[in-house]
Amino acid sequence: MSISENVKRRMAEGSWTRKMFEEANLLKKKYGEDSIFDLSLGNPIMEPPAAFKQELKRLSENPIPGMHRYMENAGYEETRAAVAKQVSLETGLQCTAGDIVMTVGAAGALNIILKAILNPCNEVIVFAPFFMEYDNYIDNHGGKTVAVKTDDNFLPELNSLEKAINKKTRAVIINSPNNPTGVVYPEKLIRSIGEVLLRKEKQFNIPIHLISDEAYSNLMYDGLKYVPVFPAYHRSLIATSHSKDLALPGERIGYVAVHPDIDNKPELIDALIFCNRTLGYVNAPALMQNIVRHLQHISVPVPEYEEKRNFLYNNLTDMGYKMVKPQGAFYLFPRSPIENDVEFVHELQKMSILTVPGRGFGTPGYFRISFCVDHKTIEGSLFGFRKVAEQFRLS
Ligand SMILES: Cc1ncc(COP(=O)(O)O)c(C=O)c1O
Repeated sequence: MSISENVKRRMAEGSWTRKMFEEANLLKKKYGEDSIFDLSLGNPIMEPPAAFKQELKRLSENPIPGMHRYMENAGYEETRAAVAKQVSLETGLQCTAGDIVMTVGAAGALNIILKAILNPCNEVIVFAPFFMEYDNYIDNHGGKTVAVKTDDNFLPELNSLEKAINKKTRAVIINSPNNPTGVVYPEKLIRSIGEVLLRKEKQFNIPIHLISDEAYSNLMYDGLKYVPVFPAYHRSLIATSHSKDLALPGERIGYVAVHPDIDNKPELIDALIFCNRTLGYVNAPALMQNIVRHLQHISVPVPEYEEKRNFLYNNLTDMGYKMVKPQGAFYLFPRSPIENDVEFVHELQKMSILTVPGRGFGTPGYFRISFCVDHKTIEGSLFGFRKVAEQFRLS
């Protein structure tokens, strides 16, 4: 078989999240669903909000003529207008339907942006720990990933960012609330990142895009409010989806929003639409566009996630596990008590607990716990976490 060397290598390195997910499925088949505590995947257990089901029912009872046909590659005008209205409310800038491209999830959004802006060997900066698929997406479009370390609280350091930028840099990806750490970037930091990028654009006479991956922007705790990137930087784009806020990851619905005053906007939007078509997505799913148009102000009950966060964080820290308290998304990223995070994850696996080693996010020495699971699974995992904490004398 003639498989590309690059694909072969990337498959072998693989996604740790997927690997653990597959391992969990094998174990569940062997020992039964209830004996395995699968905290490996960010696949929300919650059902979509009732309003989603009502819209789905309404649409099936009153179908819109032609609703299953091809459409403009950017998506339905009415859907883009509804998204633009919400983005305007959240960012405080006036966005229109022309600033939005509907996509196949946040993954589709990131891929069309990267294809539209990258030339071969251009560099894209990400902050470790990071969602590992970024590296595959950047590679898809001939770019090179430059991973920059964060501080002890997993926040980007401006000095390290400055040093990483050179004339090949074309984009910086930020992700707040963050997968895998759950950390939320403060407004001042986002503003400072914008200032660094502006200075570096001028120094090297290059365009640097700030791509804000906002897949978790509606899942924030402790009364925190969304911090928009648009006011912080002129060449910014939002890549997001309704996979997490409406619990619709299988439906593949998301969008790109571009800063309303971005340079060369018509050309950039045309390029995004062209890439949506030619990457083979063609357009975002029609049925979902007709539904999420009416759900822009809705999300799953966030307090339920906050309760899960509190319960697990409090129990694990009491046992002696060390971690930064997450303020968004649905992950914890504790320090591995031993240097080898893969070995530690295997120790947890012996207690039927599945997590993902930190190296799966470019940061060995930690492990990721996903708490978008039912309470029974979280509660059931505590016995094993306690045993392993005792084994490693954590408290
Ligand atoms: C940080 C981050 N970005 C993007 C995605 C992809 O989201 P989607 O399923 O909407 O493509 C995920 C999925 O887990 C994610 O965690």
